[in-house]
Amino acid sequence: MIKFPSSFFWGAATSSYQVEGANVHSDWWEWERRVGFKVPCGNACRHYDLYKEDFDLAKQLGHNAHRLSIEWSRIEPEEGRFLPKELEHYRDVIIALRERGIEPIITLHHFTNSLWFAKLGGWYNKNSYKYFLRYVKKVTEFLCENARFWVTINEPMVYAYHAYILGAWPPQEKSFLRASRVVDNLAFSHIKAYRLINDVYKERKLSRPSIGIAKNMQAFEPCKDTLKNRVAVHLRDRLFNFSFIDKLIKHQALDFIGMNYYTRSLVEVKKWHFRNLFLDVCEENHSQLKKNSLGWDIYPQGLYSLLLALKKYNLPIFILENGICTQDDTLRWDFICQHLKSLHLAIKEGVNVLGYIYWSLIDNFEWAQGFSPRFGLIEVDYNTYNRKIRESARKFARVCKTGALDM
Ligand code: FCB
Repeated sequence: MIKFPSSFFWGAATSSYQVEGANVHSDWWEWERRVGFKVPCGNACRHYDLYKEDFDLAKQLGHNAHRLSIEWSRIEPEEGRFLPKELEHYRDVIIALRERGIEPIITLHHFTNSLWFAKLGGWYNKNSYKYFLRYVKKVTEFLCENARFWVTINEPMVYAYHAYILGAWPPQEKSFLRASRVVDNLAFSHIKAYRLINDVYKERKLSRPSIGIAKNMQAFEPCKDTLKNRVAVHLRDRLFNFSFIDKLIKHQALDFIGMNYYTRSLVEVKKWHFRNLFLDVCEENHSQLKKNSLGWDIYPQGLYSLLLALKKYNLPIFILENGICTQDDTLRWDFICQHLKSLHLAIKEGVNVLGYIYWSLIDNFEWAQGFSPRFGLIEVDYNTYNRKIRESARKFARVCKTGALDM
C-alpha cells in the first residue's frame, strides 16, 4: 500500500466550453459553424444546468477539489459589457462546490476566447493583456471571497501550437513567428494578472491566494539514438516544457506550478531543418506501449521524470490534469494506478505535490476530436445527458477517501 500526504487534494477537472454547452459568443462556436465542423460542441454535457448534479457525484466519489474554468464569452459577450447574471452563475457554481466540501480551482482561460476579442486579433494583438486583465479583475472581484486557487491560463504552449502552428484550432494560423508572439503575450498577461489578482485580495484584506498556470508537460524521447533526434529532444524540452515557466519565475509570478501530463512524444527528425527539428515525430507506431483511444502512448515514467525536473524551481506542484480516453475502463484504472505510483515515487524523492486532479470528471467535447474520446470518470449519454459512474471512478474514490492506494 502507498500512502499520500494527508493534506492532499484529490479531484477531477472540466473546462467550460467542453462541458457547459451553448457558449454561443465564443470564437470556437463561431469557428465550428464557419468551417462546417462535423461534430459541433452544441449542448456539450449540459453542465451549465446540471452542475449541482455533477458536483453531487464528485462528492460521492470522495473528491475534495475540483478544477473548472470560467467562460470569458459568457461574462463579457461584447467588449466592455459584463453580464452580472453570468458572474452570479459562476459564484453559484463555486458556492455549490464549497457546500459539498470541494475546493474550487478556477481557470480563467482554457483555450476559448470571446468572439469580439478574437476579432480584434486575439492573443496576437499586443493589447490582448489589457482586455484580459479587465475580465480577470471583474471575475476576481466577484469570486475572491470564495476562492483560493487560481489558474490564469491553461496550456499556453499547446494553445499556441494548435491554433498558430498546426492551424488545427481557431484562428488556424500556421506561423512560428505568430505563435511566438502569442506565447509572449500570454506570458505577459499572466504576469500582470498574477499581480492584479493579488492586489484584489490585498484591498479586500483577504489572505493571499495561490496563483499558477496549467502547464502541459511532455516526456520527449528520441526514437532512434541519432544526433538530430538528441538535439531535437533537447530543444523541445527547453522550449515546450520549460521556457514558459522560466519566464514567469523570472518575474516571481508563480505560487505553484500546475502540471498537465498525458503522454510522451517519440521524436524522429527527418532532416536538419528548423520545422523538422521542432515538429517531426515517429510515425511508425512501433512502440510496445499501450495507448489511449487517440493513439497517445501510456507512459507513467514520464510523470516521474518531469516532476523531478521541476523540483529545481522549488515551488509546489499541482497535478491539474492527467487522464486517459478509452472505452476500456479497466485500462483507465490501470492508467490511474500507474500514474499514482509514479507520482508517489516523486513525492518520496522530495517533490512537493499539492494534489492530483484527474482529467476529466465527465466525458466531454474533446476539441477538434469531438465527442468520441471518453476521458470521464463518469460516462455521459449524449442523447439523454444521463450520467453513469464508471468502475474506475469508484476505485479512484477509495484513493480519494483514504489517501492510500493498494498495490
Ligand atoms: C488538455 C486540455 C484539456 C483536454 C485534455 C485531454 O490538453 O487542457 O482541455 O482536452 O487535454
